[in-house]
Amino acid sequence: MVVNRNLSKAVDDYFTETIVAPDPALEEALAANAAAGLPSIDVSAPQGKLIHLLARMTGARQALEIGTLGGYSTIWLASALPDDGRLITLERNARHAEVARKNVARAGLGGKVEVRTGTALETLPKIAAEGLGPFDFVFIDADKVSNAAYLEWALRLSRPGTAIVVDNVVRDGEVADARSADPDVIGVRRMFELMAREPRLSATAIQTVGAKGWDGFALAIVK
Ligand code: SAH
Ligand code: DHB
Ligand code: MG
Repeated sequence: MVVNRNLSKAVDDYFTETIVAPDPALEEALAANAAAGLPSIDVSAPQGKLIHLLARMTGARQALEIGTLGGYSTIWLASALPDDGRLITLERNARHAEVARKNVARAGLGGKVEVRTGTALETLPKIAAEGLGPFDFVFIDADKVSNAAYLEWALRLSRPGTAIVVDNVVRDGEVADARSADPDVIGVRRMFELMAREPRLSATAIQTVGAKGWDGFALAIVK
């Protein structure tokens, strides 16, 4: 691994202390996650702020998140929405969902955010059946194996102009290995194949280094 992890974390810390300026509720959420034994696979603070800024730049009011964990990215995203905005976030693990609900409430965002417990491929059809959406912003960050299916759902629940962000699409560079046997990498590559052939999407992907190592995200807009 060529990336100097200590140095890229120091740069992330520098950006976080200077311009990212996370709300104390975000720090409290990370502390509560650690206390509850959740894995620290949340987005980094600079990336959370990026999602927040993208949501504001696109004027998002209705947002959908797939993969809540303890609600760290949820708080970044929900705090970008207007007072009458709404975020539905999907989490398979009931314990993660419970920690997230508490973190979101502590951040004062309980009225805007609904954490739905269940496997996303079961909760997404219910969201469609309830007539919810279209969503203005979708953040895909759950299991990587189902990434293509999540992108299909994001499209189905979208409108022209919807922004879609997919996390963890680089995986230490393994995404470029067409022969990778890693199910996560295969899932990410299937998602990219769909993104490539789907005429309704215009997309890019950006590699990142930082506190979370070498990874990246894809960004798409629905035409
Ligand atoms: N977005 C969070 C991190 C999410 S980590 C943040 O940045 O703060 C991925 C989460 O997806 C985990 O909590 C995991 O339990 C959840 N998950 C995994 N598979 C899932 C599935 N099939 N349906 C819903 N959630 C799932
Ligand atoms: C994993 C999931 C994530 O969403 C992430 O940001 C990092 C790692 C994982 O499942 O390993
Ligand atoms: Mg992620």
